[in-house]
Amino acid sequence: MYSLTSTQALSRNDIHIILNRAQEYLEHDNFPTLCGKVAILFIEPSTRTNLSFQMSAQQLGLQVLNFSPDNSSFIKGESLQDTLETLAAMGVDIAVIRAKGDWPAMVDTNNLPIRLINAGSGVHEHPTQALLDALTIRQEFHDFTNLKVTIVGDVLHSRVARSNFDILTKLGAKVQFAGPPEFACEGVVSLAPWVDFDEALLDSDVVMMLRIQHERHQEGLVINKEEYHRRYGLTSARVAKMKKSAIIMHPGPVNRDVEIASEVIHYPQSRILTQVRNGVAIRMALLEKCLMEDYYEQLVSTEWSYISKRKITATSFAH
Ligand code: CP
Repeated sequence: MYSLTSTQALSRNDIHIILNRAQEYLEHDNFPTLCGKVAILFIEPSTRTNLSFQMSAQQLGLQVLNFSPDNSSFIKGESLQDTLETLAAMGVDIAVIRAKGDWPAMVDTNNLPIRLINAGSGVHEHPTQALLDALTIRQEFHDFTNLKVTIVGDVLHSRVARSNFDILTKLGAKVQFAGPPEFACEGVVSLAPWVDFDEALLDSDVVMMLRIQHERHQEGLVINKEEYHRRYGLTSARVAKMKKSAIIMHPGPVNRDVEIASEVIHYPQSRILTQVRNGVAIRMALLEKCLMEDYYEQLVSTEWSYISKRKITATSFAH
């Protein structure tokens, strides 16, 4: 059974095929009708990922089962493994899971007859966010080769940074990190260079700002919010130094006027809402891949160099 619990399992070709299918969904509204049941198990809070999975499943005709951990047998101590076996016994086809920690490492998938999608695992992975980010970048630049992507901020506590690093480097982009030195831990600097934020702005094609993950900090920030904004926030003055062709991204939710100035969120260079819109299409493509498995590639344009003729921007989605 096809599951996606880690970006590590995706080849460059797999990624382009998923992006191609998502792009097709954005350009056409003749969606297939699939048959299956999708359980949404979110043990950590979410707006975008949770609702976009629900929307994606509904648009494909799938039955959606919402699972509220506070009102479930998790409260009685039932494990994730036992919960998944229970869902599988009911005939649920796919479990979309967000939980603290590296939950895929805690699940024994042998003989577990249910497909799993990682919708966020602690500080470890967020594969669908990285896929929708890659789609957003591909719509803009068409080719990843030598594209410079600077990921800025709380890299230490960010699953988005880790999954994006993996996917974007597979696609050929040059990824680098910037932000407060306290976030430059060994596990992060061994992946990519840690650079000066203000210098990096001058030649980056993509400036991806990260949310400060206050809830994952053992202690508060060493610097206060105002100081953080002054030194590492994407302000109007910093945007003015960026390349004219560069874009601004943020996975959301944003800490306004901390990692990004309020006015910058809606600047023409910002793709923050495009990312959200792309999330629905990416999750449709992935749910379909899980259910169609071997037939999937026959459905989708396997030309990974497939490029949309239509340049998609935030305004393309205005109804
Ligand atoms: N980007 C992201 O995962 O947002 P949510 O927490 O709202 O799902």
